[in-house]
Amino acid sequence: MVPINYGGRIESRGPETYRSQSLLDTIFQATGLENFQGSAVVIDLMSGPGGIALNLQKKASRHSYAVLDYDQEQLAKIGEHEPVNKILADVRNVSSVVKGESVDIATARYGIKDIPQGQQLQALKGINEILRPGGVFVLTDMISLEGEGLQRWLNIQHSQKQQLSGREIEKEGECYIPTEKEWLAMLKEVGFEAEVFGYYTSPISTGDWLTGNQFGNPKSPEAARKKAIMDEIIMNAPEGVKKAFNVRQGVNGMEIDYPVVIIRAVKKVAESGLPTAGDLYAAS
Ligand SMILES: C[S@@+](CC[C@H](N)C(=O)[O-])C[C@H]1O[C@@H](n2cnc3c(N)ncnc32)[C@H](O)[C@@H]1O
Repeated sequence: MVPINYGGRIESRGPETYRSQSLLDTIFQATGLENFQGSAVVIDLMSGPGGIALNLQKKASRHSYAVLDYDQEQLAKIGEHEPVNKILADVRNVSSVVKGESVDIATARYGIKDIPQGQQLQALKGINEILRPGGVFVLTDMISLEGEGLQRWLNIQHSQKQQLSGREIEKEGECYIPTEKEWLAMLKEVGFEAEVFGYYTSPISTGDWLTGNQFGNPKSPEAARKKAIMDEIIMNAPEGVKKAFNVRQGVNGMEIDYPVVIIRAVKKVAESGLPTAGDLYAAS
């Protein structure tokens, strides 16, 4: 079941981050594809319309690329002529649809935060399982700021927006934006050596959510009502929150800067010369 109508979104009219070439360039650098020896197997998870995979493919075309998303409409936004394999699947089951230790590079942007807190570790574990030892996972996602009420406010605000976009939290659970420390700790727990590769600030306006179809047809009174709810939530944030996230009044609605981290996580190679799971598969 796909709870939110992601497929109905028009990313090119949504938040600026979906058009940011500088963020795509940072993700490319973090993958290490530029200096990869041989031909890599690359997968973009929770790919949406494939912005990441298509950009990597353009920059390093000799490798093989796949995208994975659980929303057929999102995958359909990627033209059939594009050189990427499409996989329709839930990332929480990635290790049952993609062969273990078969992937060199995996990426995921703005996806894992939308998985409920209690399931994020499991999803990251599956991603670790499909990577070869030494393989790289580049996570690009929002971070909660540590500090009085900041994490709680950001999560409530984001969850409200998701619910106004159609998420039914009773069925699907609530999204959760970890702090940088929590992201790193989860990645380490599932077997990665993880470190921050870079930061990015994602400027958002409630007007972007409206024009990007995140509240349904932007011309409908219903969408205008949902935007007004978000404007009010952001406008009435406590002063400390407003300062931390640079909340301001913009031309098309309230504006806020979301902090984003780019983490490069490398799957640990088995120690002590014992065979890895990959060696065992190869031998059988
Ligand atoms: C905010 S969009 C980001 C799309 C893309 N990664 C990008 O940055 O342009 C989140 C995407 O994750 C997908 N998604 C959400 N939960 C998923 C899950 N459990 N399994 C697979 N895809 C999922 C949605 O369909 C949507 O396309």
